[in-house]
Amino acid sequence: MSQLLTLSRAARLIGVTRAALQKRIKDGELPSFDGMVASEDLLRAYPSARLEDDAMLERLTTLKEEAFGKRVRERALPNSLVLAERLFEQSRDLADVRAHLQRYHAMVVRLQERIEEEAASAGSETRRALERLGSLLQEELERTLGELPPTDALAVMDDMLKVMSAHVVLHPSRHEFFVEGNDSILDAALRAGIPLNFGCSSGSCGLCKARVVAGQVQKIRHHDYQLSEMERIQGYCLLCSHTPVSDLVIEALEAGGPADIPEQQIAARVKTAAPLTDRVMLLHLQTPRSSRLRFLAGQSVTLGFPAGGEAILPIASCPCDDRNLQFHLDREAGGIFAERVFAGGLRSGDTVTVRGPWGDFVLRQGGQHPLLFIACDAGFAPVKSLVEHAMAADESDRIHLYRLATGSDGHYLANLCRAWADALDNFSYTALLADRGSDWGPTADKVVSRLTEDYADISKFDVYVAGPEGFVGQVTKSLSLRGVAIDRLSACVI
Ligand code: FES
Repeated sequence: MSQLLTLSRAARLIGVTRAALQKRIKDGELPSFDGMVASEDLLRAYPSARLEDDAMLERLTTLKEEAFGKRVRERALPNSLVLAERLFEQSRDLADVRAHLQRYHAMVVRLQERIEEEAASAGSETRRALERLGSLLQEELERTLGELPPTDALAVMDDMLKVMSAHVVLHPSRHEFFVEGNDSILDAALRAGIPLNFGCSSGSCGLCKARVVAGQVQKIRHHDYQLSEMERIQGYCLLCSHTPVSDLVIEALEAGGPADIPEQQIAARVKTAAPLTDRVMLLHLQTPRSSRLRFLAGQSVTLGFPAGGEAILPIASCPCDDRNLQFHLDREAGGIFAERVFAGGLRSGDTVTVRGPWGDFVLRQGGQHPLLFIACDAGFAPVKSLVEHAMAADESDRIHLYRLATGSDGHYLANLCRAWADALDNFSYTALLADRGSDWGPTADKVVSRLTEDYADISKFDVYVAGPEGFVGQVTKSLSLRGVAIDRLSACVI
């Protein structure tokens, strides 16, 4: 019999995004039952999926790992205790199924014996009927046992994945994600683009406290914060210090928007300050293990040299990227802070103060609309953060990035954008060039007319525009005139 799979699990097994599956369901190409799909239908819809060689999944994972700077091996397998617990759970399920089968077998044997007993003492007509019934039963048994269906490859793969990773559903949001290797539940949720509540991320503050409604967890890290006896009885745990042993349902708080994120101040270390072009510098900071910055993709922070001098800059990485914070410093737009960095005033290991986060250039909540991103020059920084977040959250079935470069250096990090387009079926990338000038009107027209050539109706998109003030002003005005509602349009001036 075909097994029913959640969309997240099915997407993972076949190696496509959840959004791609949702699109095929919407287009009537893949039947679904209460948000689940049957393994048989899935294999019919993706006949070329080779489960013994999960190259598609690997291709996506590798892309994300490279993009977010993670090493695959860091989270390949859970620790031995968690692994043992998961194997124990699987063995128990298997033992239950085996006991069930044995009871059915005993019942059939007993039924055959009863038919023979009844036949022995019955009149000739009833005996013939009972003997006929007995041989029908025997034939049916031989036919059924002789025609065992081929092994359901997806079910086997799913069982294996259950040992390697656990599936978590959050209430009340219904967000879902997988926890792999030695990740804490909090790490895995943030990597999946889910803005769970947290503070220290190291077991001290208690802000990540959440109630486990179903399933089991195990502590993987020491925590100083102590839960009360009552909280323990009610099933609370610290998400930053626990990992799932089985699939979980958890009641947990999530940030609904920028207003839910508190202001923080963190001393971060410089990992690298390296030029991307003559005009743009990549600044890579890392926060301490015990104070990871809590922010939403697309937000900005204030960076300050300890000796003085600061700048407000959009974060170019996404909250799914662990303790890493990246910034794209534009020499011409970054003021004194940028001048100092370009003059070699920041070296690996230096301390920079990070204060924030600020701004509401964030993805709309519950938005499963197609997404259009328009970035001019270093406006790519907050847009990159949003794109990475949208990819991690995997909720939108269409993402299109339009980039415009006005300098002679062209588009920095263009390879990254091309890699996204190569690896993701639902992602498109358009690179445009324009001359820099004081009048942004023609430049904005160039982007908007290309966009309207590509899409006859842009009113169904959520649109995000970032770049210099003149560019953002012209583009948003032009898009409003073309029917994009004001509540579907977000802008960020760099
Ligand atoms: S985030 Fe502070 S205890 Fe978990």
